[in-house]
Formats: sequence, C-alpha cells, structure tokens
Amino acid sequence: MSDQKSRFEHLVEAPADPIMGLQEQFRQDPREEKVNLGIGLYKDEEGKSFLFPSVRDALQRLYERGYAKDYLPIDGDKGFIEETLLLSFSKELVESKPLIGFQTPGGTGALRIAAEFLSSEVKGKVYISDPTWPNHRPIFERAGFKVESYPYYKGQLLFDEMKRALAAVTSDDIVIFHACCHNPSGEDLSLEQWQEISDIIKACGALPLFDMAYQGFAEDPYKDPQAVQLFLREGHELFLCSSYSKSFGLYGERVGLLAASLSKPKEAASQIRAQIRALYSNPPLHGAQIIKEILQNAALKKQWEADLATIRKRIETMRKSFVEMIGKSDLAYITDGKGMFSFLPLTPDQVLSLQKEAGIYMPKSGRISFCSLNQANLSYVTKSIGRHL
Ligand code: LMR
Repeated sequence: MSDQKSRFEHLVEAPADPIMGLQEQFRQDPREEKVNLGIGLYKDEEGKSFLFPSVRDALQRLYERGYAKDYLPIDGDKGFIEETLLLSFSKELVESKPLIGFQTPGGTGALRIAAEFLSSEVKGKVYISDPTWPNHRPIFERAGFKVESYPYYKGQLLFDEMKRALAAVTSDDIVIFHACCHNPSGEDLSLEQWQEISDIIKACGALPLFDMAYQGFAEDPYKDPQAVQLFLREGHELFLCSSYSKSFGLYGERVGLLAASLSKPKEAASQIRAQIRALYSNPPLHGAQIIKEILQNAALKKQWEADLATIRKRIETMRKSFVEMIGKSDLAYITDGKGMFSFLPLTPDQVLSLQKEAGIYMPKSGRISFCSLNQANLSYVTKSIGRHL
C-alpha cells in the first residue's frame, strides 16, 4: 500500500438488511431449538426446504431431454413470458391489452428494472404502503425516487385512511400495491375495496404498480391476481412485478416477471430492453425453464396447483394452531390472514429478548412467517412468545 490516503477512508458500515441480515445471524446461532420466523421461506412439516413435486418432475424431464445453456434473449425466454403473462392476466386480457413482458432475476429484479425505467419517465414520487416489504423503499430510492407512504395497516386495515391519502396523490406519482398476501400484514383488500381504489387512482391519474410475490398463496393462482386484472379491465396503464420464488419454491433460482400495459408498448419495451442490457444483459436460464415446463404441460400444471394447495393448507393449519396454543382472543385476526405473514403485537425490545433468550428470530416489526412453524416447534414457539403477550 502506498502512503496515499485511500479514497474509501470515509466508508462506514451499512446496516444489515432487516430480513436477510437476520437469516445470517440465525445461521450462526448454535442453539438447536432456534427457530427463524423472520424470512419468507416455506418449510415443510419436517422443517425442511420443500421441493415442489411439480418442480421435481419438470427437472427430471429437462434432465432427460437436456437443453442448451446458451444466452437467453435480453427479454428472457419467449415461452416463459407468454405463459406467465397468461398466468397473471388471463387469456381474455392478454388478447385484448397491449401487454409487454420481461423475464427478470426474481421479483426484486423486476421492481428494480421498473424503477430504473420509470425514473426517467415519471416526475413525481413513489408511494408505498405503511407498512410494506422493507426492500420497496431502497429499490425506488436507489433509482432516484423520493418515496412516501400511505396508511395501510396498524393493528387493523386502515381502509378509510388509505383512500384519503391516495385521493391526494397526483398524476405525476406512482403507487405501489401488493397484489395479494400483503407483506407484512397478511391483510388484503376485498374486490369491492379494490374497485374503490381503482376509481380513486383513476381520478387522481397516478400510475399503479403491483408487486405480486405470493400468487397461489391466498385463494389459488387464478384468483390471486384479481386486483391487477380489475385495474387492467378498468383501463389503467400499469406495471406488474411478479416473483416466482414462493409460487414455485424456486427462491435461489431468481425468476420473476416484469409486465406492463401502457401506450407505446413497442417503444417502452425497447427502452426497458436497453436498461436490462446495461444492468445484467439477460436473465438466468434454469428457473425459467422449469416454470415453462410446468406451465406448458397439463399434468405438471395440475400437480403444481396441488402443490400450492398443500402449502395453503399447511399455512392455514399453522395459523389456527398458533392462535389456539397461544390462547389469546385478540390474536384471532391471525387465523384469517393471507399468505405467509402476520404481525404479532410485540415491541422491538420483546422481539430482541425472544431472540436472545429463546433463539426465536423475527424482524423488529414483529412480523412472523407461519411457514417456519411445524408440529415439532409449535409448542416451544407459542410458549416462548406467549410469555411476552
Ligand atoms: C420476505 O419478505 O421475507 C421475503 O420476501 C424474502 C425477502 O427477499 O425479503
């Protein structure tokens, strides 16, 4: 090293990510009884990672057939994009709307590409729900947006407050919605409530962007995109960022979809393509091949629907058993929660002592994932948490 002062002298450590950072801390915890309720990662009844039987069969078929490991086009695999657009929007809408689609590295990749593209097209702010997935804010801030929030949930759904806040948003702004299984609250809007929100957004002229990371975890994969489809039918220009991490159990394969319905689809697609080329060139191959194989094969698709039903059933059972074993009537809302998460009424200090004393991990917000519970750890978890409630 020369004696010249390093240009990096000023660097300070960035805070650990509230979800991924916790996962690292959990991995290093030597206690056998530890439980990570922090991350949205589905585990089976044995506490093991779950390889969907549909994915296993698709892998087998791909392995036997073999496929070239060439680069995908910048947009991604054509068959994958066609199938996932159908899965998100239905045949009727795909045939009648000017939709464009890109295969992306996970839902985060879709959100970041959307943010990069929109940062040069949209002048206003980005509105996120309060609370929301902690990565929404940094994704849009790092793309240059000012990010503000609208009320969504505090012990209960704040629908009136949400409507009032959204009515004040301008046509220069973007509003981010969770398509289903709101993360972190587990509280979704009804179709009637979505209709009201669609009317408000139409009146103020903001651009809606849906984040759909849990398709198939609320009702089923065909009903879960009902809000996005409603907005599209109502004639909004919109963006959809989908993650297939949870819906196919392909977390580490990084598969997502960026879709949009907007005027000038050809021009928009060419601009997004240029963004992608400059960011990661083209998306990863393997996960998309698995999903395409499943969606293009009737028997595999049926199996996939059954795999999702198995997951929903297990989450439902865990939600019910958790509430029963804790035995507190004010936690009844958990039973009806949608998707992996709900909040527990715990303070950050209580969250920290659960981590220290019992090796039970969750973010400071008190959000827990019911996918990490099973018959073997339920009693330990509910006893430990129950002491703080
Ligand atoms: C979560 O919210 O736990 C998941 O979506 C994982 C992640 O990327 O944060």
